Amino acid sequence: MIAETTRALPRLDETGRAALFTQARTANSFADTPVTEAELREIWELARWAPTGANTQPLRVLYIGRGEARMRLVKHMDDGNKAKTEAAPAVAVLALDPRFHEHMSTLLPFKPELGDVLAANEELRTSTGQFNSALQAGYFILAVRALGLAAGPMGGFDAAGVDAEFFSEEQWRSILVVNIGHPGENPWFDRLPRLDSADIVRWA
Ligand SMILES: Cc1cc2nc3c(=O)[nH]c(=O)nc-3n(C[C@H](O)[C@H](O)[C@H](O)COP(=O)(O)O)c2cc1C
Repeated sequence: MIAETTRALPRLDETGRAALFTQARTANSFADTPVTEAELREIWELARWAPTGANTQPLRVLYIGRGEARMRLVKHMDDGNKAKTEAAPAVAVLALDPRFHEHMSTLLPFKPELGDVLAANEELRTSTGQFNSALQAGYFILAVRALGLAAGPMGGFDAAGVDAEFFSEEQWRSILVVNIGHPGENPWFDRLPRLDSADIVRWA
């Protein structure tokens, strides 16, 4: 609980930091251990609280179970991504809802006219949707990790094919496919280097 009087925020301990960042890895194979529907629901119950610009929340999530629907997805994955997408206990297709601005009167009740501004300005609408859905995709991966699960995000797929396959009604635009499960045999590729903070961080 956050103490109301001091406004002191809790800090994650080393275990929490390791689970989210320092020790967390991208999984490329998965154990047979199932991922429950309750766990999948919990992922979004966490991720939905992370911030977006003007509270736009443009990301949408389609969970694809094992079976016929999974094979309809796999055929649109790049060859190197097919086997692990077929084998993962759960898969999420993360997508941008291009009509996200239609919810602005609910999401930003003190400035509902932003919905009309976005409706009239395609460039602003597109950049806002792309930027914030990408942010939410990152939050989604961290939420998977926070639940003790491994994520395998993949950008290597035919997005137009996936959209025609699954989103012809909603007109959502897929941005990332995420395998979800517990790590299996040899799940990690070699850890790739990260840029040094000296190359990244500047101070003014
Ligand atoms: C947006 C995004 C797209 C990715 N696309 C693919 C992909 O198509 N295929 C794949 O095998 N890995 C893909 N990856 C996995 C990255 O290569 C991996 O997360 C990164 O190298 C870090 O690995 P680590 O978490 O094990 O350190 C993707 C990751 C992200 C975040």
